[in-house]
Parts: sequence; C-alpha cells; structure tokens
Amino acid sequence: MNFKKAHAYIESLYEKRKLTQKKYTEVTELKDFGPVIDDDVARMLQVLITLAKPRKVLEIGTSVGFSTASMAKAVKVYGGKITTIEFDAKVAEQAKKNFEREMVAGQIEVRIGDACDIIPMLKEDYDLIFQDVGDKELYAALFDDCVRLLNPGGLLVAEDTLFPITLFPAFKCEKMRETLANFNKRVADCPLLESTLLPIGDGFTVAVKRW
Ligand SMILES: C[S@@+](CC[C@H](N)C(=O)[O-])C[C@H]1O[C@@H](n2cnc3c(N)ncnc32)[C@H](O)[C@@H]1O
Repeated sequence: MNFKKAHAYIESLYEKRKLTQKKYTEVTELKDFGPVIDDDVARMLQVLITLAKPRKVLEIGTSVGFSTASMAKAVKVYGGKITTIEFDAKVAEQAKKNFEREMVAGQIEVRIGDACDIIPMLKEDYDLIFQDVGDKELYAALFDDCVRLLNPGGLLVAEDTLFPITLFPAFKCEKMRETLANFNKRVADCPLLESTLLPIGDGFTVAVKRW
C-alpha cells in the first residue's frame, strides 16, 4: 500500500472536523511546547473511547492538551474523567486555558509534576492510560506501573512507538530508539496484554489488559 496516498485520502475525508491539530495549535497563545498528536491519532483515541467508554483516563504528557481535549470531547458524552500529568508548569497553564476554550475543563484534572514521582504513588485504577510523555525512556520505566493501574479490559495506548525504525540516525537518538524498542518488546511479550502497533501518527500502540 502507498501509505502517503492513503494518509492524504483519509485526511481529506475528515478535513471539515471542528477540532483539528492545526486549528487547536493556531489559537494556542503559547508557541513553545512539546509536539502534539496528529489528527489520525486523535480520531483513533476518540473511536477507542467511544467504543470502550473508559470512566477514568490517565494521560502521561499533556503539552498544551490537544490529545487531552480530543479525548475529553469523547468522554464528556457519558461523563468520563481524565487526569493528565505534565511537568512543565507553563504549558500546563496554557493547556488549562485551552480546556476552558474547548468547554471540556470540567472533565479534566491537570497534575503538574514529574510522572516518575506521581505514577508510582497512584493507587486508583484506570480504564485507559495514554502514554505520550516527552521523555521516551519513561515508557519502559513506567510500563509495570501502567499495567498495575489498569483495570481488566482497560486500554494501554502509546504514541511514537515506531520511533525505533522511523527516527533518522543523524538525529543521534540511539537511546530513544533503544528504550522504545524495549517498550515495544515488553508490550508484545506481556502475557497480561492483547496488543498491536498501528502505523498511524509516529506509531500507535493499542493494548487491552486481559480479563
Ligand atoms: C509529546 S508532548 C505531549 C503531547 C500531548 N499528549 C498531545 O498530543 O497534545 C510530551 C510532554 O511530556 C512532558 N514531559 C516530559 N517529561 C515529563 C515527565 N518526566 N513528567 C511529566 N511530563 C513530562 C513534556 O513537557 C511535554 O509537554
């Protein structure tokens, strides 16, 4: 399949949507923030949420909140809630403003702090965990906690998981490639998970915790 042609065709079908990455980032006042998910990943998250109806969602890595707002639009329909973790207070404050503008602030709790400190201390269960933290070494480091925090039937989803084969060697990202390759192997080999890796965005892992 010609993925470039397929991608262009699919995006043309959805270009009239109200919430797109381009529109969202254009009206975001702050211009210096971590990259946000592509529209195809946002739609995939919304499809998964509409299908599975997670009551409690945990997101690791907020940036200015495009993924959070996209998920919040879907959970708002049935009253679900999202907790999102971001260690950069400036982008977290911008995310909060964006949530007000998108009228989803009531669905979202923003926790400002380091995911390394917050995640191991969490005791609550979640129905969907979205791993999109900027420090990619945390994917593998937080993997056991993510599986522990998920309810049976819950979803673990992760963005950028095709980096092991898509990052250019010139970027000198060997460590990032290695750690994501390690995460991918752990997901694929984990007896508690039913999983796959989709070639959308920069690679999107979808895993369900077995009953
Ligand atoms: C890829 S961006 C998140 C994008 C967002 N999920 C979206 O698509 O709209 C990753 C974010 O993780 C944050 N981050 C990096 N290391 C972190 C850590 N240890 N704890 C919490 N947040 C972290 C960065 O500041 C950055 O804003």
